[in-house]
Amino acid sequence: MKQLKLLYAGKAKSVYRTENPGELVIKFRDDITAFDGQKKDTLAEKGHLNAGVSAFFFGLLEKNGINTHLIRKIDDTTMLAHHLAMIPLEVIVRNIAAGSMVKNYPVEKGTPLNPPVIVIDFKDDTRHDPMLNDDLIYALKLASPEELHELKRIALEVNTVLREYLAGRGIDLVDFKLEFGKKDGVIYVGDEISMDSMRLWDKKTGESLDKDVYRTGQGDVITQYHHVASRIMAEE
Ligand SMILES: Nc1ncnc2c1ncn2[C@@H]1O[C@H](COP(=O)(O)OP(=O)(O)O)[C@@H](O)[C@H]1O
Ligand SMILES: [Mg+2]
Repeated sequence: MKQLKLLYAGKAKSVYRTENPGELVIKFRDDITAFDGQKKDTLAEKGHLNAGVSAFFFGLLEKNGINTHLIRKIDDTTMLAHHLAMIPLEVIVRNIAAGSMVKNYPVEKGTPLNPPVIVIDFKDDTRHDPMLNDDLIYALKLASPEELHELKRIALEVNTVLREYLAGRGIDLVDFKLEFGKKDGVIYVGDEISMDSMRLWDKKTGESLDKDVYRTGQGDVITQYHHVASRIMAEE
């Protein structure tokens, strides 16, 4: 499998075409950004830690009957994936109030959210990813009612699988973001499921085990990513 032309380079990953138009190579780089790209760094090993955890979780979802774009891992930092027509939505599932929810609404950090709260943002950096609602999603033709229903259903299923798995590792799944895409009329979970796209708290200490370590500048990001990746992927 040959990696051909660069299709796009995002903030943290680069996506390459292959000789098969249905397949892409996704390379996880060592770049990390926060606050709409205002804070930026390159941290050695970040790419392979996030690629490892993403491939691991995609595998776990597949075992639970959820379609993901992962075909296989190629090496430490790259995966072969189905080439999807991405839906420009960020589907966020929240189990515990934190981050922008606490910043924008009168709810205390750490409040359990039962049932989980789904929030959908428009994936558009130039517009700072504004929050959408169902009517806006239809008006902007980002998804049909059937597709939106399916996205929410899959997001909640992913939540159940990840939450239970992480609980077994002593970790609370506070919230996470998914991106979806379509291929041949089928919806797949795409992009990544990593420490950059989830909020994870140690159940005992409440310590952050995710990109909040970088956002707040408290603690060594890579030490924490190593720690959580080995907790997630360790054999039982
Ligand atoms: N399977 C896929 N097929 C096509 N595009 C994908 C796939 N998975 C992820 N992408 C896209 O590739 C880019 C990944 O790079 P990333 O660095 O995360 O970008 P961004 O800065 O836009 O978040 C994103 O635009 C994402 O939507
Ligand atoms: Mg991204």
